[in-house]
Amino acid sequence: MLDTSLTASRILIIDDQSSNVLLLEGILDEEDYTGYRSITDSRHALPIFLEYQPDLILLDLQMPFMDGFEVMHQLRACMPSSIFLPILVLTADITPETKRQALAEGANDFLTKPFDPMEVILRIKNLLRTRALHLQLQDQNQLLEQKVRERTAELEETQVEILERLALAAEYRDDDTGEHTQRVGRTSGLIAQALGLPEAQVELIRRAAPLHDVGKIAIPDAILLKPGKLTVEEFELMKTHTTLGAKMMSGGRFPLLQLAEEIALTHHEHWDGAGYIGLRGESIPIAGRIVSVADVFDALTYIRPYKKAWPLSDAIEEIQRQSGRQFDARVVEAFLAVIRR
Ligand SMILES: [Fe+2]
Repeated sequence: MLDTSLTASRILIIDDQSSNVLLLEGILDEEDYTGYRSITDSRHALPIFLEYQPDLILLDLQMPFMDGFEVMHQLRACMPSSIFLPILVLTADITPETKRQALAEGANDFLTKPFDPMEVILRIKNLLRTRALHLQLQDQNQLLEQKVRERTAELEETQVEILERLALAAEYRDDDTGEHTQRVGRTSGLIAQALGLPEAQVELIRRAAPLHDVGKIAIPDAILLKPGKLTVEEFELMKTHTTLGAKMMSGGRFPLLQLAEEIALTHHEHWDGAGYIGLRGESIPIAGRIVSVADVFDALTYIRPYKKAWPLSDAIEEIQRQSGRQFDARVVEAFLAVIRR
């Protein structure tokens, strides 16, 4: 860093003796330091410090009302530990005990009275340079953190895109339009919102729900696309799309993938415990309970290879009928609120 930028640094002088203050100001003027402020009443140190935000403090130790130790104590208490603010202590008393105590309170260097102007300037320069390096490092760290955040966001965005395409791939296996998964995602998001879940969770559910049937990729066409009723064996195999889907999504690092795994596994669970793997009530994750309603409603109201589309009113009636049995009553209430809208 160039010394010219050092001379614009903000320096706060705290000394009860005006003669000392004048002397220091004179030394600073000589070296073209333009940004300094001085106070002789140390009781004003804290408010001035907060308002002025100095780069360096020149601090007398022996002062009436509030000595230098107390000033340091006050200042350090309201300063984040990550900030490097040098304090240059001015003292006529340089006993080892005083030095130790000042260092313990956060002093960075000492100047003994009477002042040697050359020494004053050299010590000020040294501390200002160190401060500048700290600030530079802090800026670099912030930049680096920002970059990491951007890369993480990018990575998450990429993951969302891949997952959306994966959901679509699964969807094309049993629905030409590929729209069922997206509708289930949207409805699930709306139900989650009506339940008053936090916005971030609503968004995650909306994005993860379309993957509920991703395990169907591994189900043979003969079963998946069979127009008639499935045999018991076929149905057992069909049921494995939940565990298969969860397996495909397992081990994810990001919350979206983790939620997709949870939904894939639990979207066929029933509130009364009569679902695929026998979870019941609150032990079924809320996302699974939500997608369960959205999925059944969508399956009922749209045509599938093995069934006609139900009229909307019949589908709603069916969902209501299953409230407290197949579905969580609270989720059904939220669903009805969404439908009414
Ligand atoms: Fe399913």
